[in-house]
Amino acid sequence: MNCQMTKLLHDNLSVKDGTLYFAGYNTTELAQKYGTPLMLLDEKKIRNTMRIYKNAMEKYFGKGSKPLYASKALSFVGIYQIAKEEGINTDIVSIGELYTAIKAGFPLENAFFHGNAKSDSDIKFAIENGIGYFIVDTYDELYAIDKIAGELGKKQKILLRLTPGIDPHTHSAIATGKVDSKFGTAIETGQAFEIVKTAIMLPSIDLRGFHAHIGSQIFDIKPFCDSADIMIRFVGEVKDSLGFDTEILNLGGGFGVRYVESDPVIDYEENIKLISEHINEYCEENDFPKPIILMEPGRSIVADSGMTLYTALSVKEITGYKNYVAIDGGMTDNPRYALYGSSYTVLASGKMDKEANYECTIAGRNCESGDLIQENVKIPKVQRGDNIAVLVTGAYNYSMASNYNRVPRPAVVMLGDTDRVVINRETPEDVSRLDVIL
Ligand code: LLP
Repeated sequence: MNCQMTKLLHDNLSVKDGTLYFAGYNTTELAQKYGTPLMLLDEKKIRNTMRIYKNAMEKYFGKGSKPLYASKALSFVGIYQIAKEEGINTDIVSIGELYTAIKAGFPLENAFFHGNAKSDSDIKFAIENGIGYFIVDTYDELYAIDKIAGELGKKQKILLRLTPGIDPHTHSAIATGKVDSKFGTAIETGQAFEIVKTAIMLPSIDLRGFHAHIGSQIFDIKPFCDSADIMIRFVGEVKDSLGFDTEILNLGGGFGVRYVESDPVIDYEENIKLISEHINEYCEENDFPKPIILMEPGRSIVADSGMTLYTALSVKEITGYKNYVAIDGGMTDNPRYALYGSSYTVLASGKMDKEANYECTIAGRNCESGDLIQENVKIPKVQRGDNIAVLVTGAYNYSMASNYNRVPRPAVVMLGDTDRVVINRETPEDVSRLDVIL
């Protein structure tokens, strides 16, 4: 019998008496206690993955090397508190993420402000609040930071974001290191070298190093190693030609995560080791001081530490065509299938011992035919009221959630020694809060 138990993907999933357990908690009971749609987070797994990165980076790249949690994957006050407790840095990409980190008491000297289009008010707010570093994309931003930092009487630390010219073979929307990318300054065209020369000269800019991020959800290690080679060679060239000593080299994020059985299992420590061999070899061969290495994992820290529970609201069978199971969520809490056609594992979480022989498409509740979570999956036959679980939704689900159709966002509950709400469920009042009554 092809029962759903064969599909358990990660070590925080288990089955007891036909019910799916996540992080040791009975998902049916959680759905009853908190309502659905409900996003669950496994606190121990989040902390454990942060520790894997932290320990491996120090071990293979040396003292001072560290992960930054790329908080665009999932940003809320509690996650910055956890990052702070675990002693890792963070990458923020907007005023909203910055503000959330401030609210969490995250030490901003350990925060790196990303993004390819920062406004003057973003820059001013960040400097006034003591941001550690800007990761600078272009000349316009470089000059703006120099001017604003100067007005505030500060010399601002920055890294320059460079494009190493790597095609990582992931979805085109999440590949970022190609020479014609909207992000960063290209090495291949010589423009990277020129912007370094400018940055060194500006009075209120304190250039500390370089950054590259090649893309996201990448399983192959080769593009990461190629990018590391290109970046460390660049570091060598700016030393030789300009006498510039690079203190920090940030190699970005992007390791893949297993969403479905056919995805490979990734050993993050092994990946870090392999990348470090490229950096270490270059530095040894060229008798070159090794910079501090930073990396920016987002997805791999939170994706499989999260899952979403829904309730089936209708089962529709179109004779001779297909079956739909419509749920009480959809593209408003998980737009990734609609956007990228992303694969997900779907389970009838209260029927884990039943045969998965009912082929259906999981449809969301929004007024849009493309509002699907997954097409043509096999689960046991369900009916209105049954729970549907979608696994590995911790990254880029809640953070990309919207209020389309004025659908309130789900609650997020973190499971650790206790279960606790970390983001409250939105109410209809919340989604109309900013409206002005005429
Ligand atoms: N650093 C930078 C500069 C980034 O742009 C990103 C992701 C990361 C680090 C983290 O990469 P990760 O380790 O999470 O792969 N919304 C898309 C993903 C967009 C990724 C954006 N940048 C998705 O749902 O797949």
